[in-house]
Amino acid sequence: METPKVNEAKQTELKKQPETPEKAAPEKNKKTVIIIGASSGIGYESALKLIGRNYHVVNISRTPCPLERVKNYAADITVGSTLEKALHAVAEKTQYFYALVYCAGFSMAAPIEYVNQKDYRYLFEVNFFGALRAIQSAVPFMKKKGGRIVLVSSMGGLLPVAFDSFYSSSKAALDMLAKSAAIELEPYNIRLTSVQPGGTSTSFTFKRKVYGDEDNGEYASRLNKATAALANIEQGGMSAGEVARTIADVLDMKKPPAQVQCGGKNKFYAVAQRLLPGNMSLYLNKKKYRQ
Ligand SMILES: NC(=O)c1ccc[n+]([C@@H]2O[C@H](COP(=O)([O-])OP(=O)(O)OC[C@H]3O[C@@H](n4cnc5c(N)ncnc54)[C@H](OP(=O)(O)O)[C@@H]3O)[C@@H](O)[C@H]2O)c1
Repeated sequence: METPKVNEAKQTELKKQPETPEKAAPEKNKKTVIIIGASSGIGYESALKLIGRNYHVVNISRTPCPLERVKNYAADITVGSTLEKALHAVAEKTQYFYALVYCAGFSMAAPIEYVNQKDYRYLFEVNFFGALRAIQSAVPFMKKKGGRIVLVSSMGGLLPVAFDSFYSSSKAALDMLAKSAAIELEPYNIRLTSVQPGGTSTSFTFKRKVYGDEDNGEYASRLNKATAALANIEQGGMSAGEVARTIADVLDMKKPPAQVQCGGKNKFYAVAQRLLPGNMSLYLNKKKYRQ
């Protein structure tokens, strides 16, 4: 499989320092945002943006966010209740937090016929159940004053990703979770939004668990084509900074939308996918993944 290189211009973003706010708020007046998954990529860039907009940022992930001004709590979403413990530790310290951004994600390339149950359950734990558990833990601390919850979903929740049906399904479930929780939590002024990036140039592409030819049997060649096409879409796609801007804008809005795509092209795809007959949309998607 031909694997694209991480776009170097975009990689330099990782070396950026937070913008200094025009007028820095005193520490005690800053609103706290917890990002789950700010050690790299979109979550890291969101931390950078939010610090620049005068928020106090806390990260929860396995490895720390390298930004000096971010407070880190270590947790692996897939291990016991370490996620809940980390969220409670933050809440004990801050008493109240304004927003939760669930950014953790994982993806795979495997055929449905041969995929291992352990793998797709892991994927769902990171992409969906972790978000559900985070909301459950955070809501008691947000209820009194209200706040924002952003779930970082994907265009893959609207349009199928060939040979990553697990990822697409988990993101579609996440979108529905955002919409239905928005109804439940509106009386507490807790607003939920699922942010749907399209391909974004981060190291996500290279962390994908791709099954080898020996596991994929007769699907091997089609799976390799689809995975190479997806890697190109991602590495040729948006920068994590652009996605982070959408996330930060959502947190600043009085009444954020339930769902938002990042950038004009993805907004267009979202509308087209609703308007096109189902078979036409599937046909175009098949071509995108060289099927
Ligand atoms: N890149 C794209 O093309 C793209 C497109 C659409 C949507 N998205 C979505 O955007 C989100 C961020 O992706 P990204 O591109 O920024 O990828 P990334 O750089 O790989 O970031 C993933 C983040 O999730 C955290 N994470 C993963 N597994 C975890 C676990 N078991 N426990 C705790 N934290 C965990 C990682 O932290 P640690 O490894 O330090 O734990 C990291 O901070 C994901 O939800 C992804 O599905 C990405």
